[in-house]
Amino acid sequence: MMKAVCLISGAGTNLEAILKHIDKEKLNLSITSVISDNPKALGLKIAKKFNIDTHAFNFEKYKDIRIFDDQLEAYVENINPDIVILAGYMRILSKSFCSLYSGKIINIHPSLLPKLKGLNTYQRALSNNELYHGSSVHLVVNEIDSGSVIIQFRTKIKSSDTVSSLRRRVMEGEYIIYPMVISYLANENLKIINEEPYLFGKKLINPIVIDDF
Ligand code: GRF
Repeated sequence: MMKAVCLISGAGTNLEAILKHIDKEKLNLSITSVISDNPKALGLKIAKKFNIDTHAFNFEKYKDIRIFDDQLEAYVENINPDIVILAGYMRILSKSFCSLYSGKIINIHPSLLPKLKGLNTYQRALSNNELYHGSSVHLVVNEIDSGSVIIQFRTKIKSSDTVSSLRRRVMEGEYIIYPMVISYLANENLKIINEEPYLFGKKLINPIVIDDF
């Protein structure tokens, strides 16, 4: 069985969705450790509820980001995971970390990448009068919210939508698409070769799009 670590910074609801899939044996993966850059992250409590080891680095206390990066890398290296899952992890991984786990790190970002990289995507989608919004599961490379996109969840923006209604809908989609991609990786149906995704043996040229309409 593949071994994964999960990096979080906040609520950990995606982590919870993944752990529920594992519990229900819909996902054949062992999450060895949940690591946070914030000791107060609620997701750490979720991990404990599922009896997963946790570790928190208090990012705020580090005067030198390189020391934080080195310690995080050393901690993860000691676990030697097959997959690194970013679930609401709000820091940029170091170049060294990205190259060490090249093709093994995945992230979920709340936008239809390459649109709306960065923060406040819900507000920006509404202000831009976008027709659609959603979330993307993508490979992590050493550039923010870049790397090949594997799956997207897409929803139509309604005229009545607010940031919170849109976020709620998109996150429900995240709880479906993220465990799905992780399961493809864990079962080796998804393979990453030279930073390019191959799904069921075929190069994935465009992301799979799951619409909720
Ligand atoms: C998710 O919406 C994800 O798209 C983004 O951060 C959020 C994390 O939420 N990267 P949670 O911590 O999983 O609840």
